[in-house]
Amino acid sequence: MRRVSVDSVPVGAKLARTVFSSDGGVLLMQGVELKQGYLDLLKKRGIAEIYLDDDLSEGIEVHDVVNETTRNEAVSLVKKIMTGYCFSDTIDVENVKKVVNKIVDELLASDDILYNLTEIKTVDDYTFEHSVSVCILSLITGIGLGMDMAQLRELGLGAILHDIGKLCIPREILKKPSQLTVEEFEEIKKHTVLGYELLKKSGQLYLVSAYIALGHHERYDGSGYPLRLKNEEIQMYSRIVAVADVYDSLTSDRVYRKKLKSHEVYDYITSMGIHHFDPLVVENFVKFVTVYPVGSGVLLNTRERAIVVQHNVKMPTRPLVRIVYDENMKRRSKELDLSQERGVFIVDTCEV
Ligand SMILES: [Fe+2]
Repeated sequence: MRRVSVDSVPVGAKLARTVFSSDGGVLLMQGVELKQGYLDLLKKRGIAEIYLDDDLSEGIEVHDVVNETTRNEAVSLVKKIMTGYCFSDTIDVENVKKVVNKIVDELLASDDILYNLTEIKTVDDYTFEHSVSVCILSLITGIGLGMDMAQLRELGLGAILHDIGKLCIPREILKKPSQLTVEEFEEIKKHTVLGYELLKKSGQLYLVSAYIALGHHERYDGSGYPLRLKNEEIQMYSRIVAVADVYDSLTSDRVYRKKLKSHEVYDYITSMGIHHFDPLVVENFVKFVTVYPVGSGVLLNTRERAIVVQHNVKMPTRPLVRIVYDENMKRRSKELDLSQERGVFIVDTCEV
């Protein structure tokens, strides 16, 4: 299977992965033949990419680190908490704890905890899907750093609720499609303190988890907010969530900007890493997050087009690829291990 933009899907193509709506219901079932009406529906729902099964990508498998049902359950729980809050002045996180523990168990049971950007996100429900992705990305990094089960549970719970303070920020500011004014940005910044207080008030989680809401916008060089903490003054969990939060936000379409390509985000994280992020966290983050997701199209320096077949943990920018078109756009089918072919490298991602 391969990942393609909905705009370039030919009518009649076969859907390789079920597409879910933001409330966890099935929008389109795996295996369905895509008619024009279905493609219009996807676009209307803000879904920009899907997975296709076709000759070019035959035999390429894309694995999830956390199964889709658990992920959807987590997304709907976060949505329920965040939309139900206006009816009560506190939040109930007991069910979220259960689903976070399930995510931790699934990750620990997995032989290969590679994060492959498989989820298909909608623009509208960004906050809920983002919360769950940040939780998974943080846990993968925590596992890389050797955290034990109790630490992972604390980290996962705080990570999934890191932006809960946004409940207290006016919607028109959060959803503003244009640049924020200085005053509006000051308002947004308050979601850190407000989230911490909200979680503390619930009395249902350890303070170290609640602290993530307060600390996830602090930056390693002291340029963050709200307390402008530096280096080790920032709690470890918050240093992890900071990287996961930035990565997921930049790889997602937002109302005010288009997403960046995953290799551009990789470059950003690894170059800004020396200033904004804890280098040890970045090192463990990039080990398990794919630069070029399996199933995505890439352009080589030879002008050939290929599909990524397998990630290389030791050399993340040099995966195993299948060349599907030569420089004259003639069909080919040849696998090439870029870690062995030093003269050939990826120059960009592309549609194949
Ligand atoms: Fe935030």
